[in-house]
Amino acid sequence: MAQPTYRTHHGMHDILPGEVEKWQALETMIRTAARTFHFSEIRTPILEMTELISRGVGQDTDIVSKEIFSFDRGDDHYVLRPECTAPVARAYTEHHMDQWGGTRKLFYIGPMFRAERPQKGRQRQFHQFGVEILGSDDPMADLETISFMVHLIETLGIPRTTLRLNSIGDPEDRQRYLSALEAWFEPRKADLSEISRDRLGRNALRILDSKEEEDQPLIAEAPRITEFLGEEAKNHFVRLCSYLDLAGIKYELDPLLVRGLDYYSRTAFELTSPDLGSQDALAGGGRYDRLIEDVGGPSTPAVGFAAGMERLLIACEELGIELGKPARPDLYLVTLGEEARSWAVSALKKLRNAGLSVTTDYSVRSMKAQMKDANRENARFTLIVGSEELKENRFTLRNMQESEEQSLSLEEIAGKIRSTSVPT
Ligand code: HAM
Repeated sequence: MAQPTYRTHHGMHDILPGEVEKWQALETMIRTAARTFHFSEIRTPILEMTELISRGVGQDTDIVSKEIFSFDRGDDHYVLRPECTAPVARAYTEHHMDQWGGTRKLFYIGPMFRAERPQKGRQRQFHQFGVEILGSDDPMADLETISFMVHLIETLGIPRTTLRLNSIGDPEDRQRYLSALEAWFEPRKADLSEISRDRLGRNALRILDSKEEEDQPLIAEAPRITEFLGEEAKNHFVRLCSYLDLAGIKYELDPLLVRGLDYYSRTAFELTSPDLGSQDALAGGGRYDRLIEDVGGPSTPAVGFAAGMERLLIACEELGIELGKPARPDLYLVTLGEEARSWAVSALKKLRNAGLSVTTDYSVRSMKAQMKDANRENARFTLIVGSEELKENRFTLRNMQESEEQSLSLEEIAGKIRSTSVPT
């Protein structure tokens, strides 16, 4: 086969027929779960202001400093959104949602963009679905976001996931912790990896996230955030843990879990799966009580999470979980000759208006070739239309599964097909 002249960018993929049905099935599950938990959908633009993302996500994060897709047009600076929490915080502020009354429970599904090094489970264009609860500082809201995440994973049937949980405290707690970390790492700087030495100067918390071998002994000995939590953050965390226990949701406390985005405070969590390989995070999230204020909105506590949809689909594939079979047409109209094709014009309309999924031949092929095409499309029935059938106004309806034929008028066809159950 000749090499195509144009192809998708590195780390960006077409989602083709056969695959797209799995996405649709996943999206339907997400929407059903959102309904069960009473979340409303929000759709924000793919392009956001550069300033929003760098302030919201954090200038020193990998996402903003290394992975952003951006361009300028006139005086405007655009970025392709790398995530959707900062955009939701912007929308909340822009549309004065704090004045809509009550707590806002939102969810989104859509593409995000990060210029990372592509590998299995890590794309440059990927898809997230996420939920955000805005306007509550109660640990019950944290529980609800985690419950939503766990509910979806259970509905999909993905076993063996691990929920890692931490509290990274309030900003004041974190400031004290940061100073303690700096004081601890500074004299041991020479033993750190180059990446971590760089992080020490900018945000020592990030060192805890390091995957570098040489950093691990130092990280294992470093002070833990748990010792620096203030009374309020501690109470909040204890209550969340007791709610999780009551909900029967298992978790592992991980004081090293800091997450790669700057807006978090208090709760931080991640859900991993051993069925994913090195990119093992299915979902992650946490509380971000200062973000909305940071992007110019009213002081609004909030919590949420996002899951990577490609990773959910990879996990399903690895585990043999079947999602969304390709749709099959109810009927394939086999037309023999020009008279039959002209007749098909109005017949197609009538049959589709009767609620059937109908397709036909577009290449003026022989009957044998059309039957083969009907088989390829996995049509439930075929209807053969030739000059004889037109004269008699009776058509041969063939049940492809049962290899049964019946002669019917056009008016009888929809009823007959509908009365025949779809094989599973
Ligand atoms: P995040 O941890 O950056 O959090 O991303 C959430 C999930 O998106 C990850 O656990 C992973 O499954 C998926 N993901 C991230 N990057 C990629 C990639 N390059 N390719 C494939 N999948 C990827 C956030 O984005 C936060 N906004 C989550 C949140 C919502 N926090 C509060 N509310």
